Amino acid sequence: MCKTKVWSLAVTLAALGALPACETGGEAAQAATPPERRGQTSPDRPHDHAKARGTGPTKHAHQAPNPRRESRWVLLQQWVRGAGVNREPTTSPPEGEAQLAERGRELFGMYCVNCHGAEGRGDGPRSNVFDPPPRDLAKGVFKFRSTPSGSPPAPDDLFRTISGGLRGTGMMPFVDLPEDERWALVAFVRKLSGRNARQAEALQPVPAPDDVSSRVRIARGRKAYEKLGCSSCHGPRGRGDGPAAPTLRDDAGRPIRALDFATKPLKRGDDPADQLLTLVTGLDGTPMPSYAGTASDRDLQDVVAYVLSLRTARFAIDARDQEETGRLAQGQYAQAVHTVVGGCGCSHGQ
Ligand code: HEC
Ligand code: HEC
Repeated sequence: MCKTKVWSLAVTLAALGALPACETGGEAAQAATPPERRGQTSPDRPHDHAKARGTGPTKHAHQAPNPRRESRWVLLQQWVRGAGVNREPTTSPPEGEAQLAERGRELFGMYCVNCHGAEGRGDGPRSNVFDPPPRDLAKGVFKFRSTPSGSPPAPDDLFRTISGGLRGTGMMPFVDLPEDERWALVAFVRKLSGRNARQAEALQPVPAPDDVSSRVRIARGRKAYEKLGCSSCHGPRGRGDGPAAPTLRDDAGRPIRALDFATKPLKRGDDPADQLLTLVTGLDGTPMPSYAGTASDRDLQDVVAYVLSLRTARFAIDARDQEETGRLAQGQYAQAVHTVVGGCGCSHGQ
């Protein structure tokens, strides 16, 4: 990534609260300084947002001390460039859900309020810069589950979302937090959503094929894609421009795009198993339907191969081609960069 791009990324992440640059400096704040301004802002005298606004020293909601700020910066940079994140838990949730949720509330106040708001209603100070917006977690509707449409997610599902984030959205990964802290956040999200009482059975997963680049499978997948009606929303070549696309709305009545497979990252990631899970469970709160019981395993496996073949952009990190992956990944956050640079409310870059 060139320096200008790193700079706009830094502004984005700082404004998002991922890097509380309003606090004292250090490497992260130095990295968040535009190249032409280096030297004007020392680690001891960071850019002062409050002063720039003329509002005097104020504390943002997200300014609880964050001991992991510097390593978080490295993680986010890599994630935005497409680096994989291990989302799977290696431990079970600690005992004592109520106590765990209390600990989760504290952590939520440190890492999540800026977007999701103190009570998780999706109304944090930075919530207005995202499309889709941060979720109102109190509504209890979750897109990324292993459970049937309309059911609460399994704790592991929430653990995966919190660990790995959702690519191409403001929902960033928190894999750098110790597992017990992530479990505490899961417990708090479950409490907020009021959906912690009952545990839904996970759907039977469709096995992922290991030959997604086989031409035969892709050709079959193209037919299955038409047969199952994917193209009515996603368009014949997966550009998100099917005949139904302009009419699509989410449950809150907001217009929603059917994902453009060619240029936008899959939120859940590129792993065929993850995409199969999306097809089986559907994405609650959106028009993306569940195909459980209405499509054969083979059709779904074929369609996944077709969808992956439509990508014109690679989102996996490749050491031989850093510049290229940096450029592509920048696109994932371009929208957030665009809105956040204006939306931070301070005079960065002047
Ligand atoms: C920079 C903004 C931002 C921060 C910080 C953030 N989120 Fe999110 N979060 C989002 C956005 C945006 C979405 C909606 C993505 C979508 O609908 O596709 C989201 C969605 C979610 C979801 C719903 C996932 C689903 O399956 O539907 C959960 C759960 C969640 N966030 C939890 C958290 C937790 C816990 C934290 C803190 C550890 C956190 N978020 C921090 C922006 C953020
Ligand atoms: C009624 C419209 C509609 C139909 C039909 C539909 N989709 Fe979707 N799909 C959507 C919308 C809207 C989204 C974006 C949801 C969101 O914002 O997270 C989406 C998202 C997706 C995603 C992205 C998941 C991720 O991780 O981000 C995949 C993959 C997908 N659809 C595949 C398919 C396939 C394959 C079919 C046919 C078997 C299909 N869709 C049929 C509307 C539709």
